[in-house]
Amino acid sequence: MSNPSLLILPGDGIGPEVMAEVRRIIDWFGDKRGLSFDVSEDLVGGAAYDAHGTPLHDDTMAKAQEVDAVLLGAVGGPKYDVLDFSVKPERGLLRLRKEMDLYSNLRPAQCFDALADFSSLKKDVVAGLDIMIVRELTSGVYFGEPRGIFEEGNERVGINTQRYTESEIDRVARSAFELAMRRGKKLCSMEKANVMESGILWREVVTEVAKDYPEVELSHMYADAGAMQLCRWPKQFDVIVTDNLFGDLLSDAAAMLTGSLGMLPSASLGAPMANGRPKALYEPVHGSAPDIAGQGKANPIACVLSFAMALRYSFDQGAEAERLEKAIEAVLASGVRTADLLGEEGVTPVTTSGMGDEILKALDASL
Ligand code: NAD
Ligand code: IPM
Ligand code: MN
Repeated sequence: MSNPSLLILPGDGIGPEVMAEVRRIIDWFGDKRGLSFDVSEDLVGGAAYDAHGTPLHDDTMAKAQEVDAVLLGAVGGPKYDVLDFSVKPERGLLRLRKEMDLYSNLRPAQCFDALADFSSLKKDVVAGLDIMIVRELTSGVYFGEPRGIFEEGNERVGINTQRYTESEIDRVARSAFELAMRRGKKLCSMEKANVMESGILWREVVTEVAKDYPEVELSHMYADAGAMQLCRWPKQFDVIVTDNLFGDLLSDAAAMLTGSLGMLPSASLGAPMANGRPKALYEPVHGSAPDIAGQGKANPIACVLSFAMALRYSFDQGAEAERLEKAIEAVLASGVRTADLLGEEGVTPVTTSGMGDEILKALDASL
């Protein structure tokens, strides 16, 4: 049987820096665990714009549709701020999500014990935290029509539309209930049904889907109150399901519970392909971090953990995913830290590739 295929899109800024470490780890699994992938690499975002005048070439889009999984670094950067909206780096990523129909975006927020002191919140609030935010990723205000900047009288008006169909809510809700079944059997749905009709529909559909999952304890929260509760006592949550925009905001907030945005991975999943695997793209939650790009300061862990999610969700290698997660845990426990996690006494600072070295050593030690 041929090896599973992986398309790697490093992107911009720190994207290529963190992805270089992931490539070493992919090679390690090939050499030491007999888990080989057919890896190809291509451009996305500003890098693709520089080469082709578009943030995602059609050929790259076609490749992404064919492979077993896509691994993406990050896109964007100040250099591209001046570009027309239609060719901005972020449009490349949004096109991938939309055309691959990756409607369920899993954003786990897990606090490693070694970092519990580092969170901006008190240790007992975050220690042992393990929650999963399921963000709808292909609809809502990100894609709703009408949209644009229009002339209206003697001024301009900027329009975006929050739009959700029942089937779009149904399918992301089901993916969240399925996850809840495999975890703590608790699901909290967040919207603003108090001010938005799309929120009312969201709540109705989620409540309907819940009938198929009687074992899961469902609750509803307004998203603003949910943001507050995430900071107050995040451990009250197990799985959270929410729309595209609220999910974007809530997952960045959740990142800080874990100590750094450089720690948060994600999986964007769609419907099963002919081979039974879901359409999938894995990427860190963070962006291209132009403020630290090119300085060896980026934390590669979010991107490495995204590969661990690929092992688990695309390749049925849950035990190997755990091996990688445990290796990262061991490295953090040993006090090794990238620049985003410095500040505590007695830690050892390392560069991006230094962190890669340490993870590889911990992987070797796991054999
Ligand atoms: P960002 O996530 O790039 O950075 C926010 C802050 O977190 C910065 O101070 C950065 O240095 C730090 N940070 C982020 N990742 C880190 C890591 N791995 N290690 C250490 N520190 C890290 O968000 P931003 O500054 O708002 O956006 C910068 C660019 O990235 C924009 O063009 C934005 O559109 C884009 N962006 C892309 C993605 C993506 O590709 N998925 C996600 C978010 C933002
Ligand atoms: C994310 C990012 C993206 C989003 C941007 C870069 C399109 O912030 O993945 O969280 O808004 O979804
Ligand atoms: Mn975001």
